[in-house]
Amino acid sequence: MLLFQSMLHELWHAARALLHPHLKTADLQRHISHAAVAVVPIRALAERHRKAVLSHLLELPPEDRYLRFGYAAQDAQIQSYAEGLDFAKDQVFGIFDRRLRLIAVAHLAYSLGSQNSHAETCAEFGVSVLPHARSRGLGSKLFARAQVHATNDRISLMFIHALSDNSAMLKIARRAGALVERQGSESDAYLRLPEPSMHTRVSEMVDDQIADTDYRLKVQAKQFWEILADVQEVRRLAQDAQTKVSP
Ligand SMILES: CC(C)(COP(=O)(O)OP(=O)(O)OC[C@H]1O[C@@H](n2cnc3c(N)ncnc32)[C@H](O)[C@@H]1OP(=O)(O)O)[C@@H](O)C(=O)NCCC(=O)NCCS
Repeated sequence: MLLFQSMLHELWHAARALLHPHLKTADLQRHISHAAVAVVPIRALAERHRKAVLSHLLELPPEDRYLRFGYAAQDAQIQSYAEGLDFAKDQVFGIFDRRLRLIAVAHLAYSLGSQNSHAETCAEFGVSVLPHARSRGLGSKLFARAQVHATNDRISLMFIHALSDNSAMLKIARRAGALVERQGSESDAYLRLPEPSMHTRVSEMVDDQIADTDYRLKVQAKQFWEILADVQEVRRLAQDAQTKVSP
């Protein structure tokens, strides 16, 4: 509970900073990065985020598309992947920046076996983080978030298909305890998941609450700045008009 309160405290200060018009950029960044170190809000995405997911994936440079999809995915192929995402069956997670741009996305795809209670229940994990946001732990945090969600959904095996030279992805998987099997240039990582517990359920509830609060604050901050920009534009037009009329 203390941890939750401290997270909310940091979020509250970051939100106040976002809404404070006189704050200098350096102060703003300090507030935001302080909050970001304390907690990374990861939001479960839904149908209405499909376009944002597509934009995120299209932003990936060719080498990252290759790492993410296992082939040199062209725009049309990425579009068809994004159109095919099944938000009802699978789970998609995202991390938004303060302009509500998706800087990281993870897809937990449930295999058909998951519907059959006698078969092994599996889910495949895929992830991408925009280059400028890398090495800040976002990939690891998305993996951990997906791991808890899959556990609560009684998935027994999470697997990741990656190129063998994808050191970052394989490091994330190994660190979580996955068994990595290398087959030449490609590798599969398997992570056995435990039964859900009170801890995994509460942890997911808290993460969802934090992500919802963070998202709502970012939406409000964005709306606030848009209104402010409109007001300033109206004022500028009025001043221009006055200058023209004045002798
Ligand atoms: C893989 C990927 C998601 C990792 O995202 P990230 O946010 O940078 O991950 P993290 O910050 O949690 O880093 C994980 C670890 O890998 C390390 N790492 C990051 N980039 C690395 C690189 N190029 N080579 C070696 N290690 C690297 C980090 O230092 C970190 O280790 P540490 O915690 O001991 O410092 C990101 O590189 C990416 O989007 N790649 C393109 C798509 C892709 O490969 N997807 C995976 C296949 S589905």
